[in-house]
Order: sequence, then structure tokens, then C-alpha cells
Amino acid sequence: MKQIAFTVLCAILLQADGGETGWRMFDRRLGMFVHWGIYSVNGWHEQEQMRKAVPRAEYAELMTRFAAERFDPDRWIDVAESAGAEYIVFTSKHHDGFCMWDTKTTDFKVTNALAKRDVLKELADACRRRGMKLGLYYSNPDWHHPNAHNPKSSHQIPPEKGDAPDMAKYREYVKAQITELLTGYGEIVCLFWDIPPKIDAPEMNELVRRLQPGIQINDRGWGKGDYSTPERNVPDGALFPTPTEACNSVGAESWGYRANEDYHTVGTLTRSIDRILTMGGNYLLNVGPKSDGTIPSESADRMAAVGRWYGKVRESYAGVETVTNLVSDSRCMVTRRGKTLYLHYPRGLDATGVNLWPLKDLPASATLLNRGTPVAFETAYLPSNWWKRGGEGLHLYGIPADELTGESPVIRVDFLR
Ligand code: GLC
Repeated sequence: MKQIAFTVLCAILLQADGGETGWRMFDRRLGMFVHWGIYSVNGWHEQEQMRKAVPRAEYAELMTRFAAERFDPDRWIDVAESAGAEYIVFTSKHHDGFCMWDTKTTDFKVTNALAKRDVLKELADACRRRGMKLGLYYSNPDWHHPNAHNPKSSHQIPPEKGDAPDMAKYREYVKAQITELLTGYGEIVCLFWDIPPKIDAPEMNELVRRLQPGIQINDRGWGKGDYSTPERNVPDGALFPTPTEACNSVGAESWGYRANEDYHTVGTLTRSIDRILTMGGNYLLNVGPKSDGTIPSESADRMAAVGRWYGKVRESYAGVETVTNLVSDSRCMVTRRGKTLYLHYPRGLDATGVNLWPLKDLPASATLLNRGTPVAFETAYLPSNWWKRGGEGLHLYGIPADELTGESPVIRVDFLR
């Protein structure tokens, strides 16, 4: 047993460095999602039109109050950077059908709103200037378009008088919009289709790839995409079998701005990010700007707090492979680069020491990345290991676990061989 554990550890430590996925988007691990639209005027939820059954014409009036008077894309990029995010995904059109760019396909657009600005253009220009990558969210449901009703899909509003549901026609509209979005705004690194139409139309993703070679497309579109998108949900397991980008919002109730939002704790956010990144996924963390264009301070503060944590632990996700089965503690997830192991505790620490059974070798050093402070270690026969043959194992101790309840703890352990 002893020998097997030792051999397994050596074999793993000797493997060549892994972890580089080759997907361009997936080398950038953390992104900032932005839900912004005319729903921010009332500040309740991005699906207000459906969830409060607001008649279409009445809802559309919100555009006359959508002023965006303090919108400054550089401030958004500041917030993204403060979190350590390396790309932004922006809602070009949400389910309400309102277009946040100067489209030629409809009058229901931001340049006709009180704002009278092509906010996507301003954002895209600022992103290019700042070296921030940009991706776009695009909703397949469209509650404004007379042809868009799709009984096969979800998030649909019953057609209003005068509507003429016709998905073939609507698809042409989507193509025209996607063409504008993917030709007029520079490089777009990913397309986040939302709400699968449950209609297989391979030409849609083909069009997207033709217009933006190298783009990554999610799995909520008109055919198979490149990556999956678990939402507000931390799946079980040690490793994602396929490329994944999980998404969540700093706000617990809404993706769009909500005036009286319930905000997730920084502990919840960092633990969720830690778990997803350790599983090899990307993480898209959302903020919902107000209708004036500013990101609420509660959201910006959380993004910055996430960034303070992420900045300290991010080396534990770069160029690593996930080797969680190295340690038998179910609370511990493990990433590895060369002779360095990173111990992640996304459920938090339940004690001031951790048991790394069946690892036995003494490391050269151990560091609590959250604080940059050394962690004591020993090989010990722990009482809880009494039943294991050859019960000595690596034990790290004296960890200030009570100070770490608001963030996900990550410990770096460097081995000599
Ligand atoms: C859901 C919601 C939508 C939100 C999206 C973000 O699909 O319908 O409002 O934009 O999740 O992933």
C-alpha cells in the first residue's frame, strides 16, 4: 500500500506539465458577464416583461427613459480588471429583443433610446484599446419580434394580436443581426447564445464561424456548440469532461440590475469560482449596471474582493492539471504543476489542520496562498488514520482556518521530487 501510494505520487509528479487546453477562450479563465438593457430602468429583473406580464408596447416605453448618461466602458473594464477577469461577455440583445447596438434590422435599439449611443461600439472600442477580450450574449427568444414565437423552446410570451409566428423568417432576422454583430465590432472571442431554440440549424453556427474564425460558441444555440454553460449551479465531480464555462451573478435574484438586490457573499463566490476552475472550467461572473451605465457599488465591491482573493491564488489554475484523486479527503481538490501541488478547499476548512493521506513524502515547503504565509507540515500517524495500514501520512497544521471563512482556501505544497 505504502509502496503503491509512493509510486502513484512519483508517476504523477513525473508527468509532463498538462492543462493547456488549446482553446483560446479557455486560457483566460475568469470573465465578467454584463447584463444591461432597458430593464435596468425599473431595476427589478431582466425578464420583467414576462415575469410581470407587461404588454409589449408598454414595456418598450422604457427605452425613452434609458439614458446611459454615466456610461463609461473604461469604468466597466476597471471593474473587470479588479476581479482579475480577462474577458467581458455583453448582452447584445436579451429576451426583450432590445438591441444594444446600432442595428439596421429594427428600430428597437439603443441609438433610438434616450441614450442615443451605440454602447456596444463604445464598449468594443474600449476593450480593444485596453486589451480586454470581448464576447457577446445573444438571446434566441425575442419578445418584441412578431415572428419570433417558438413553441418548441422556453422563455416564450404568447403572441400578441397581429403577430405572425414564423421561425424561418425569424431565423433570417437572427442571421442579419449576428452578421452585424460579428462584422462591425472587431474581434469577438465567444458567442453566448441563450435559450436553445430546439431547432437544429447548423448554418447558424457555420455563419458565426465564417464571420469570426476562432470564436468559441456555447451550447445554447441552434446546434452543438463548443462548451457547456452550467448556470448558478456548481456541479459535482472532480473534472469537467468537456470544455465548460459556468456562470453566476453577484446578485442572487437577477442578472440585470435590481435595486434591492440580495448579493452573494464573497465566500460563496470565491468557493464557487475555486471549484469550477479546479474542475478545469471557466467562470463568468455577472454584474448588472444601472440604467445610467454605472455598475452598482455593491457589485463593484464584490468584484474587487473576488479579485483580491483571485490574485493570490490564480497561479493554482494556470497550466495545471487536476489530480484530485491524489488525496482521499473529500473536501480537498488538487491541481498540480510539475512538483507543486495546490490543495483547494472550496467547501471551506473544517479544522486548522488537513490530512493529506495517502501522501507521505515531506514537501520542501507549504504556503497558504490566501495569506502568503508558511504552513507547518509533518509526517504523522494521525488518530483518524489508525485503521489504515502504515498509517503515517502528510499532515499540514496550524492553518488560520477561522480567518478564512470568507474565501476559498488554497495551499501550495512544493515537493523536492
Ligand atoms: C437564463 C435567463 C437569463 C440570463 C441567463 C444567463 O437563461 O433566462 O435571463 O440572461 O440565464 O445565463
